[in-house]
Amino acid sequence: MKEFTSEELVTFNGKDGKPVYIAFERKVYDVSKSPLWSSGLHMNRHPSGKDLTGEISAAPHGTEVFERYPQVGILKKGPPEELKHLPPVLQDLLQIFPMARRHPHPMIVHFPLAFLMGASLFILLHLLFKKPAFEITSFYLFILGAISSPFAMVTGLLTWWVNYRLKLTLFVKRKIQLSILLLILEIILIFWRGSNPAMTSPLYFILVILLTPIVGLLGYYGGQMTFPTEKSDTVKG
Ligand code: HEM
Ligand code: HEM
Repeated sequence: MKEFTSEELVTFNGKDGKPVYIAFERKVYDVSKSPLWSSGLHMNRHPSGKDLTGEISAAPHGTEVFERYPQVGILKKGPPEELKHLPPVLQDLLQIFPMARRHPHPMIVHFPLAFLMGASLFILLHLLFKKPAFEITSFYLFILGAISSPFAMVTGLLTWWVNYRLKLTLFVKRKIQLSILLLILEIILIFWRGSNPAMTSPLYFILVILLTPIVGLLGYYGGQMTFPTEKSDTVKG
């Protein structure tokens, strides 16, 4: 039976008249005849030409689907193609913990998103109802947001390196610019409000409200990368 390296396998992705192959537990299957794989991308998210062993847990079906398609070879052991740009230590680590390839960033981003939006909301409530408790709540939420946002940025840089090979797309560029803006704003607000507990400056209130569109845009650009909006003219049926 033919042996495939991950470099060879990656070319069997349905493009340029090539057949569609996928690997599961080191067995390579030809799924070209499946309408669900003929485009090379299964269910709009699983690319062919690679080992998908780790991804089956996301499927609504089990491994019985492989019985319908012929095995055409076996996959040679070695780091998968999509990790080869990383230093060997990181390649090994990500093979032991495949979850760390994509999950840390989306897991962590919820914290700055929720805390910083909460800080904006409570400053609005303070402006409406003039209750000092709302202003203090806003400040504490802001502190939690400011503590968690660097973790979101570091994991963002990591997923950009692991999954996008540091390719500077427009969305990534915007995310880096907005992250720098957010960091600067956080430093200013911490020192300003920290040394002025009886804050009355309208500029401070405006800056706290601005946190919401900034993290909102960071999340929006991220979401557009993970789940790109389908253009209506490309939707079939
Ligand atoms: C979000 C993840 C996934 C979804 C929603 C999904 C969905 C589906 C559905 C609805 C079918 C048709 C079910 C059937 O005929 O019994 C199917 C078939 C299949 N899936 Fe998946 N799947 C996912 C992930 C995967 C992965 C990771 C693999 C490979 C490791 C895979 C391999 C297959 C194969 C080989 C078939 C048979 C295709 C056919 O008979 O035409 N799927 N999938
Ligand atoms: C506080 C700052 C940040 C927030 C709130 C944020 C938020 C998000 C969100 C909500 C997603 C979508 C996750 C998903 O739907 O699974 C995302 C994805 C992403 N973000 Fe960020 N992000 C931040 C900073 C960064 C930075 C500094 C970078 C580095 C360039 C970055 C790079 C990415 C990439 C590459 C994705 C796509 C991940 C993937 O496809 O697996 N993010 N971000």
